[in-house]
Amino acid sequence: MGKIIAIANQKGGVGKTTTATNLAAGLGLENKKVLLVDLDAQGSATISMGFSFNSIKKDIYDVIVADTTIEEVTKANVCKGVDLVPASISLVGAELFLLEHSKTKKNVLLEKLASVKDSYDYIIIDCPPSLGLLNRNALAASDSVIIPLQAEFYALGGLVQLLATIRLVQQLFNPSLEIEGILLTMVNIHTNSSVEVIKEIKKNFKEKVYKNYIPRNITLSEAPSHGKSIFNYRPNCRGAIAYRNLVSEVLNNG
Ligand SMILES: Nc1ncnc2c1ncn2[C@@H]1O[C@H](COP(=O)(O)OP(=O)(O)OP(=O)(O)O)[C@@H](O)[C@H]1O
Ligand SMILES: [Mg+2]
Repeated sequence: MGKIIAIANQKGGVGKTTTATNLAAGLGLENKKVLLVDLDAQGSATISMGFSFNSIKKDIYDVIVADTTIEEVTKANVCKGVDLVPASISLVGAELFLLEHSKTKKNVLLEKLASVKDSYDYIIIDCPPSLGLLNRNALAASDSVIIPLQAEFYALGGLVQLLATIRLVQQLFNPSLEIEGILLTMVNIHTNSSVEVIKEIKKNFKEKVYKNYIPRNITLSEAPSHGKSIFNYRPNCRGAIAYRNLVSEVLNNG
């Protein structure tokens, strides 16, 4: 039975997609079978894996609003061991659809993902930067959540809001949802503010914070424009080493 992990933080640009794509690719290289689900209308994970929007006929939007199955939209073997469920701008319309369905308490995403859960070791969901219904549905369908957090002063305020949403989802829909880990991203250990924020987060969340952090590394931001994971683009750069360490920590968590 596969483990479903949502990569979530309502704050934009904190490294969700970079983490989702590289974690998926890294797990694939460790011989795991992985499904990467793009749940963001920006389609960043889809583009990062080398697809253009006009090459995609159906995507996660069709899965959510219609009878389309996950299998029908899945792009197989986008990199070793990894299949992709793409997303595009049409996904913005899904919020309205989910609003109607929320009255009947039916979680479409949960139902659709359940049907492919046995085919994968890990299902990684790249969530959008909001606390809307797409995000809630993702959390309700997941076993755990990884929270990428940029080591800066404002990070903590946003984290409180996200934790409140996670608690709400636990109470209403998914009592077994766990926090897989908090991942510090874009860390520059040469700035005092980064070091202070890291100390504060570790003091508050202790062993929930991954030992390994992701450094600010320009190569990580270049890889998507080549349609490659960091492991296929520059496997020996600092960013690749950091994401390899994250993969080890996630595997050790089970
Ligand atoms: N460790 C890093 N070092 C340098 N640049 C990074 C790093 N992680 C991510 N980036 C870059 O920062 C930008 C935002 O990252 P990313 O797209 O992963 O964030 P996101 O949380 O998914 O954003 P959004 O909320 O818009 O979906 C991207 O241009 C990405 O390439
Ligand atoms: Mg993103």
